[in-house]
Amino acid sequence: MSQRDAFTSTFGVLVATLGSAVGLGNIWKFPYLTGTNGGAGFLLVYLLATLLVGLPVMIAEIMLGRTARANAVSTLAQLAPRQPLWQSIGYMGLLAAVLILAFYTEVAGWVFAYIVKALRGQLQFTDPHSAAAAFGALVGSPWQALLWQWLVLAFTGGIIMLGVSKGIEAVTKRLMPLLFLLLFLLCVRSLTLPGAMAGLAFLLQPDFGKITTSVVLTALGLAFFKLSIGMGTMITYGSYFRDEQNIPATALRVMLADLSVSLLAGVAIFPAVFAFGFAPSAGPSLVFMTIPAVFYSMPGGSLFMTLFFVLTAIAATGAILSILEVPVAMLTERLGWHRRKATLVTLFTIALLGVPAALSHGVTAGWKLFGLNPFELFDFISSNILLPLGGILIALFAGWVYGLPKLRDALSNHGQLQNTRIIGLLYLLTRYVAPLLVAVILLKGLNVF
Ligand code: TRP
Repeated sequence: MSQRDAFTSTFGVLVATLGSAVGLGNIWKFPYLTGTNGGAGFLLVYLLATLLVGLPVMIAEIMLGRTARANAVSTLAQLAPRQPLWQSIGYMGLLAAVLILAFYTEVAGWVFAYIVKALRGQLQFTDPHSAAAAFGALVGSPWQALLWQWLVLAFTGGIIMLGVSKGIEAVTKRLMPLLFLLLFLLCVRSLTLPGAMAGLAFLLQPDFGKITTSVVLTALGLAFFKLSIGMGTMITYGSYFRDEQNIPATALRVMLADLSVSLLAGVAIFPAVFAFGFAPSAGPSLVFMTIPAVFYSMPGGSLFMTLFFVLTAIAATGAILSILEVPVAMLTERLGWHRRKATLVTLFTIALLGVPAALSHGVTAGWKLFGLNPFELFDFISSNILLPLGGILIALFAGWVYGLPKLRDALSNHGQLQNTRIIGLLYLLTRYVAPLLVAVILLKGLNVF
């Protein structure tokens, strides 16, 4: 077999991993969840979940992937031979990947559609009602919803077919710096709106009364979703990491940069929400309604609006690539399929499952299970159940089965890095804190006790 593809530079590893973390999670999910869950209190719980659970699990995943140098299923098969419990991590990850992409590519489709609409000057709203009506018309039209989703699948699938270094790394390296620049511009604009301070207060002043158990579960789910952990994405990307890469330091950088993008997105959106009289609890449509309003009234507004949606599309692309890579790496390495065939089969599966998700705001709106339509259900099952469950297993595996000596060896790059204390802390977090915390939140959040 020819040599396995991988990331080619330290910077390449960093941007590709950041490209996976930064996505619709920051620009679409984070603002709307913060809005529906009461603002700053939610942000605080999310921060704690990221530090105590997210970061350790992310480091563990990358480490396991780099050690085995294989896709998620093979990594566990190699490190835990004949142990179905641990091997289930890989298969659950496969399921989560398909479920997430079924709704994620739909939202990305709305973003692509909004780029075109902004360019054509069709997003010039001054009041919440006309903004909501325009969004409703897009998501409620079956063919538009489906076609935009398929376009996203074709676009990201095309990049995936190019491979890890020539596809994922090359594309994220060019796009991620642009994303930061655009986001910075937008924050400046939003903060200079009249009434911007009410939005900032919502984002930064916690009201502890609003923190319920379901808020905590949602914050935990977001922490997993944001760092792309709990389903094998980071195992897969870890398998492309370089031997000399400092894993804990890279993960920390990615986490901090990712958090800044979420906060910047919050700063770009919430002042506008309050300045224009939208409800912060509008739900998944929040970004699509507020952003046009922010830019409408300013000179060159259509241009900035277009830029915003371009930047969101960039973020979504890097994230989708990383989720697609999970099944694609599995199919090529385990079944020996050609990369093109593996990609096409993956895309086709997602497109099929994507149909009920894409039609959830029209035809399938009434198809409810536990009170959730297919779009909401896929999101709930993946973010709030599968990712935390995968996270518990990965943490337990790293802390109890893999164990301290191997953890030390792997995370210090065989003794080349002086990070014994950090590793000791990570060991405690993965062995006790993360699994316990996640288990309690999961069971409580699902009303099991
Ligand atoms: N982190 C990405 C975002 O916030 C989404 C994502 C990419 C993801 N890979 C993942 C979520 C793996 C869960 C699991 O948009």
